[in-house]
Amino acid sequence: MARKKIVAGNWKMNLSPAACNELVTALTAKQISLPEHTEVVIAPPYVYIDRVAGLLKDTTGFFVSGQDCHQKTSGAYTGDVSAAMLKALGCKYVILGHSERRGYHREDNALLAEKVNTALAEGLDVIFCCGEPLEIREAGTQNDFVNAQIAESLFHLDGAAMARIVIAYEPIWAIGTGKTATSAQAQDMHANIRSVVAGKYGQEAADNTTILYGGSCNAQNAQELFAQPDIDGGLIGGAALKADDFAAIIAAR
Ligand code: PGA
Repeated sequence: MARKKIVAGNWKMNLSPAACNELVTALTAKQISLPEHTEVVIAPPYVYIDRVAGLLKDTTGFFVSGQDCHQKTSGAYTGDVSAAMLKALGCKYVILGHSERRGYHREDNALLAEKVNTALAEGLDVIFCCGEPLEIREAGTQNDFVNAQIAESLFHLDGAAMARIVIAYEPIWAIGTGKTATSAQAQDMHANIRSVVAGKYGQEAADNTTILYGGSCNAQNAQELFAQPDIDGGLIGGAALKADDFAAIIAAR
């Protein structure tokens, strides 16, 4: 089985309602035809999920994702959004463990394990983010750091559940900084991630795991990154906010 390739756009907390419509309309107008086993995922702010799902409903291969969800299924959690709500609005995926959630909202590996369980149980597949800060990269211990994030949040899953996880490697020092990992640095980490997944779930499961790169990925560097054997696509922030750039990144896949 060929593993899935994915180009995902993480809009973060950006765009007006009008700009949201314009961007999705411009993308669908391009009538991008995707190769087999390829998906495009858009993760808008919660308040736009309904409209983006509506605008994309006839566009083959395009799916909607949440940017986060709560670890509980429902209840008195003011300001939070549940996995079931995302699912009901048409999301296929939810992003969990983005470094901005880990940093600004103090989400740790144990909490993320709970969120992963809830999201999967509610029918969402998970785009699980991992990645090291600059000081860890400079100390040369990035593999241990990322492997612990993955083991502590995912390795309680059985094989069937793990098959519903997409891993996104996003070195924090490359996010929104214009400073991308070199394709060799990214490939090294992706190969490391695939080997730890193989160690836990077997080689076939590892070969079927989609591993995305994120961090200042853009229309210029996407092709070289995506050409690496263990890089199966990207999680795109800034460059996903412009239809032409995002379409060029999709084409690089
Ligand atoms: P960036 O963000 O492409 O703007 O660096 C990527 C991300 O945080 O998902």
